[in-house]
Amino acid sequence: MKHLLSIADLDRAAIEGLLDLADHFTEVLERDIPKVPALRGMTVATLFFETSTRTRLSFEKAAKALSADVLNFNPSGSSLSKGESLKDTVLTVQAMGTDLMVVRHGAVGAPARVASWVDCPVINGGDGAHQHPTQALLDALTLRRRFGKLDGLRVAIVGDIRNSRVARSNIDAFTALGAAVTLVAPPTLLPLEIGSYPVSTSTELESILGDLDVIYLLRVQLERGSGPVLPSLPEYVARYGLDRRRFGLLGKEAVVMHPGPMNRGIEIASDVADDPRALITDQVSNGVATRMAVMFRLLTGKGQP
Ligand code: CP
Repeated sequence: MKHLLSIADLDRAAIEGLLDLADHFTEVLERDIPKVPALRGMTVATLFFETSTRTRLSFEKAAKALSADVLNFNPSGSSLSKGESLKDTVLTVQAMGTDLMVVRHGAVGAPARVASWVDCPVINGGDGAHQHPTQALLDALTLRRRFGKLDGLRVAIVGDIRNSRVARSNIDAFTALGAAVTLVAPPTLLPLEIGSYPVSTSTELESILGDLDVIYLLRVQLERGSGPVLPSLPEYVARYGLDRRRFGLLGKEAVVMHPGPMNRGIEIASDVADDPRALITDQVSNGVATRMAVMFRLLTGKGQP
């Protein structure tokens, strides 16, 4: 594995190998001194051309837990405003001695372009509505920890699937690991390429809640143009929001997931987000060990420490 650009590039064994490695790094993070010297002397650069809280911070935390140095590139205040291109920006960062780049960009394929220009491994930290592979891995890890395995799990991904890189990555990861995925959304928020996915679809949420092990909620991405294809946000909430009453229709063991950032009161009611069966903070915590695993694998070539 030279880069991590898409979950579609990984087979089941590769995904499970990364999850096994993440389990090991979880144990490292629970030690009194949660740090190992695995990447000492190496430099990880995070280049986020779109906003982020979880992904950027957890990559930084993960790199430091592996004893790597971290360079954070911030586009606002950078020489992009003077007309410097994406290519010259990443070549500049590489020339400072960068061993791995994490790239988030609003344009589909931007991390892959970066990978074609630089000599070091590149991790896709999210590109447009295309892929967010480390999110899918940390979500798979969260489910494996909760249920032991994903085989046979019934997962509904609910919301703005058309604009969601998380949905596309998670469909790839969850189905590769044996889960049965149903996409639930208004017709205008289902992806145009829906026929190419090994999933079922529903435009109705309430009747399927009792059959689920996992409900995975997505934010309505107004910044990617979802607003105009919905009659109104209140109607969306009325039909697809997970409120306390609908939460009560889930099976007793079913769990709620969300990649964040959440819009409390829209796709998820605030009290549901704070329920013990909502795994949202577990997802965030598992992100650190998952990103340690991916960086360790890319930079050492080893499948185990
Ligand atoms: N889930 C996720 O990618 O969150 P951020 O946008 O905060 O990184």
